[in-house]
Amino acid sequence: MTVYTASTTAPVNIATLKYWGKRDANLNLPTNSSISVTLAQDDLRTLTSAATSESFEKDTLWLNGKEESLTNKRTQDCLQDLRGLRNQLESQDASLPKMSQWRLHIVSENNFPTAAGLASSAAGFAALVVAVAKLYKLPQDMSELSRIARKGSGSACRSLFGGYVAWEMGEAEDGLDSMAVQVLPQEAWPEMKAAILVVSDVKKDTPSTQGMQLTVATSDLFKERITSIVPKRFVEMKEAIENRDFPRFAEMTMKDSNSFHATCLDSYPPIFYINDTSKKVIRLVHSINAFFNETIVAYTFDAGPNAVLYYLEKNEEKLFAFLYKLLHQVKGWEPKYNKEQLNGFINTFENQYKDK
Ligand code: DP6
Repeated sequence: MTVYTASTTAPVNIATLKYWGKRDANLNLPTNSSISVTLAQDDLRTLTSAATSESFEKDTLWLNGKEESLTNKRTQDCLQDLRGLRNQLESQDASLPKMSQWRLHIVSENNFPTAAGLASSAAGFAALVVAVAKLYKLPQDMSELSRIARKGSGSACRSLFGGYVAWEMGEAEDGLDSMAVQVLPQEAWPEMKAAILVVSDVKKDTPSTQGMQLTVATSDLFKERITSIVPKRFVEMKEAIENRDFPRFAEMTMKDSNSFHATCLDSYPPIFYINDTSKKVIRLVHSINAFFNETIVAYTFDAGPNAVLYYLEKNEEKLFAFLYKLLHQVKGWEPKYNKEQLNGFINTFENQYKDK
């Protein structure tokens, strides 16, 4: 019996304008548009292979070597849409194998620890949808497929593209216009880099789906965020990316992370994702920018305490010198600055900011 297979990888994306809130939980439609930067393929990614055959008896999923249930609604919603599209192809061409009727075996592996609190569901669902779409030889483009990945996990729709990506919230009730589009390919602004500061590898206490529902239901600040703050910022952040304007992009990224965490605090009972160490990172970033009298680095935090820093490659040495000295841990990195120069920097910095 023939077994058909296809594989793909999907990278993690980190939002710089946060998706937080659903207007329709069933179709996973957001209350606001969002923007993210997709990390490079060889950094954090999910590798997924999908196989199908007439002889398979049931759908199965292995995640990082462990068999997982494939019965959860989100995965089922994605598979149902993909099978529906395959079925359309089969009804147009009777010679095609009837894969839409067959069971699937899916194997998925992250190259980073799932428990590190990094957006693993985004890469996971993106890879699942693209792998099955490849297996089924679907003609749909990435934006069309992103509508399906969205049903798996909202943020997943953005991981179908590399570079700088917008998820347009759309207006239609059926969600047909709620999909991801690329704002700029990675090659168009390749100097952008991301560093992840793992503050804690403990699993987050309030899962994002649950957290955002609580915010929508209880936060007054949230209403202000989605009606007046985010729509304007969405347009401006896209502009900043198109113009490769790092200081503007960075300022909006930090403000949006703060605005999102403020709505978490304004939820009732409040949700705390960032902790004291995260707050130290926030202060440090502002101090570094003040020290250089220029915005060279931005922080952002998702639904957890780990920081993602965005900076331009040309500033990596400067930035890491501080992180190295002050946080004492930058894996696999040694400063290239000569010791005297580095200590000079840090001493001035520490004297200037010792009370902050
Ligand atoms: C803070 O995409 O995980 O990372 O759609 O319920 O699966 P569900 O939520 P999810 O939420 C991500 C929230 C966020 C912000 C973002 O990625 O935009």
